[in-house]
Amino acid sequence: METSAVFLNAATTIGGGFHRHTTTASLLSRNPYLTTPFSFLPLNKLQHQSRFNLPNTTTTTCGTNIAPAVGVNSPVSVPSDTVDIDWDTIGFGLVHTDHMYTMKCSLGGSFSKGELVPFGNIELSPCAGVLNYGQGLFEGLKAYRTEDDNILLFRPEENAKRMMMGAERMCMPSPSVDQFIQAVKATVLANERWIPPPGKGSLYIRPLLIGSGSVLGLAPAPEYTFLIYVSPVGNYFKEGLSPINLIIETEMHRATPGGTGSVKTIGNYAAVLKAQGAAKAEGYSDVLYLDSVHKKYLEEVSSCNIFIVKGNSISTPDIKGTILPGITRKSIIDVARDEGFQVEEREVTVDELLDADEVFCTGTAVVVSPVGSITYLGKSVSYGSHGVGLVSQQLYSSLTRLQMGLVDDKMGWIVKLK
Ligand SMILES: Cc1ncc(COP(=O)(O)O)c(C=O)c1O
Repeated sequence: METSAVFLNAATTIGGGFHRHTTTASLLSRNPYLTTPFSFLPLNKLQHQSRFNLPNTTTTTCGTNIAPAVGVNSPVSVPSDTVDIDWDTIGFGLVHTDHMYTMKCSLGGSFSKGELVPFGNIELSPCAGVLNYGQGLFEGLKAYRTEDDNILLFRPEENAKRMMMGAERMCMPSPSVDQFIQAVKATVLANERWIPPPGKGSLYIRPLLIGSGSVLGLAPAPEYTFLIYVSPVGNYFKEGLSPINLIIETEMHRATPGGTGSVKTIGNYAAVLKAQGAAKAEGYSDVLYLDSVHKKYLEEVSSCNIFIVKGNSISTPDIKGTILPGITRKSIIDVARDEGFQVEEREVTVDELLDADEVFCTGTAVVVSPVGSITYLGKSVSYGSHGVGLVSQQLYSSLTRLQMGLVDDKMGWIVKLK
């Protein structure tokens, strides 16, 4: 197998030019998120290939070569060819890739250097802070392969900044923005052969920050681990921009004022499983949460933000501590304004939601997901005869074309790795 040395100090390039686009038929595909949200698939043929052939198919020197987190310049030898798998059926589940990134630091210290190591299990004390007290954060972003074989990241500095904010809330040290971005670049380049071909999906990047040190009494852990693993994922909109059906949860809440709803801490996700599971059992795609004080203002869905459309006006709940400040949300607001919509971040009531022309959700995983119906207190309202709203289509098309490098990046959001 042919190999090539990759130097992990990839250049950051910011482009120019941004255009309004209409949805193409090829982008209309079904949303597998509705059936397998963040599922970790059982080992399939691909994963066996990855596990068992790895020693023969990669010539990596990772694990012995320490890659400094900033200004990474250690050569890592990786195979240059793309893995041979059926990209059309890949879906959204974990596929074991070649390498992961890891970097440690002690409480009160700062992260200094990380390394790429073979993807695999990590060892933790049963007394680790993350296992006992949930001291942990995660992030999610994607890398896309372009037709001219470049690799694009979408606003990775926003993920870095969000992790820093979350770390402050969870009493953890965090990597700097530069360390975060360099580590993401290094991990993506070291797993380059797992990035799907253009239009077939993306490499999902999952940075984690966990309290890995042992702590018995309730206190911050004495040691922290920053880790990044990646997995190729298919397009969420696989066979159509299929609208999702949401139910408004009136008993359980995702977040409360003063809590941790605005950071991507791991406990926020375990906390929504019960309501989400009940909703799915009744045939809904997911749960929409209301504010826990008045129970009348929209917050967000389990893992994505929500927007309503009325005429030329688009509204989304404002950021005030109980919803995650989504990077897709922030981007869609800018894209929509650029395309002539009036966009408001404000309190949005259930009544307005039920009276909207169109509703859609945003997130890294779902990108832009149209909502077909909302059920509230036993009554359902549907939008656009369960078809895909024009505004959702337009914004989905604009954002994905930008993320995939199909239009000029006048926003300066794209980071090129080559
Ligand atoms: C609770 C929650 N809200 C919103 C989002 C969307 O955020 P982003 O657009 O940054 O992926 C996510 C996704 O991670 C999430 O977990």
